[in-house]
Amino acid sequence: MSISIINTVKEIRSLRHSFLLNNETVGFVPTMGYLHEGHMTLLKNSIISNDQTIISIFVNPSQFSPNEDLDTYPRDLDHDLNIIKNYLIKNFNNSEFLKILNKITIFKPEISEIYPSGFTMDIKNQIGTFVEVLGVSEQLEGKSRPTFFRGVATVVTKLFNVINPTIAYFGQKDIQQTIVIKRMVKDLLMNIIIEIVPTVRDLNGLALSSRNAYLSDEIKNQVICINQSMKLANQNYLNGNLNVNLLTDIINNKIVSTNPNFKIDYISFNDPINLNYLSTIDKSKGAILSLAVYKQD
Ligand code: PAF
Repeated sequence: MSISIINTVKEIRSLRHSFLLNNETVGFVPTMGYLHEGHMTLLKNSIISNDQTIISIFVNPSQFSPNEDLDTYPRDLDHDLNIIKNYLIKNFNNSEFLKILNKITIFKPEISEIYPSGFTMDIKNQIGTFVEVLGVSEQLEGKSRPTFFRGVATVVTKLFNVINPTIAYFGQKDIQQTIVIKRMVKDLLMNIIIEIVPTVRDLNGLALSSRNAYLSDEIKNQVICINQSMKLANQNYLNGNLNVNLLTDIINNKIVSTNPNFKIDYISFNDPINLNYLSTIDKSKGAILSLAVYKQD
């Protein structure tokens, strides 16, 4: 028994139509593949709350800029199928396993299915329809990747249009992405529930991510201080320190004193709704803490 895989918009639409006729709810887990335990928690949430689950595997070109890793982004369907099967075997008994497998569909389209008018990576010459969520796409990750969230919002709109899910699941790891998607769904009056699932972390504190495949074991061991520094800042915040400069210093000192060749790109505290940069945290709202660190040899 294997998981059903659909490659075309036409077929996935017709499957979705059959779910509608059966009055079945549909959970949707959008991914770019190279699945890991983090994706599996999204899948689990979807399986528990919906009659059917569709997982998309699509490495979306419009969210990569020409100098990024579109060509080398890890792609391995056998790996993905094994991750799903092993996860289900581990978490469900024999009779449930087959039933659940039958209720999961993978949607794995080619680029031409999702961009029927064609697509160029040459940003200046891109024409056609894109979705922009202004005001929450320009800060943080959007600052160094100016067309990233436009690409995410565009592809997620397309996938929502095709799949029309009841509930769509996103990981909290990509917190700015979740804010962009929630705002887009609200502004475009999409009738879809967006559920944000807590981050799954490795033992070294690193959030699980397909791109962790790029990191050596040595680096993976060294990054422990990043998560520790964030926990330290959080503890300070809970003890009443609401001053962003002071909290930033705590993080900076912890990382640089543990690993002198780690350089801080940025440490930022932002409003959890509009992503405004904060200098003081309002305890009734909290804040999003994000930071980027690189290693200088
Ligand atoms: O989070 C991701 O993997 C991607 O940004 C998404 C949501 C699948 C869109 O390509």
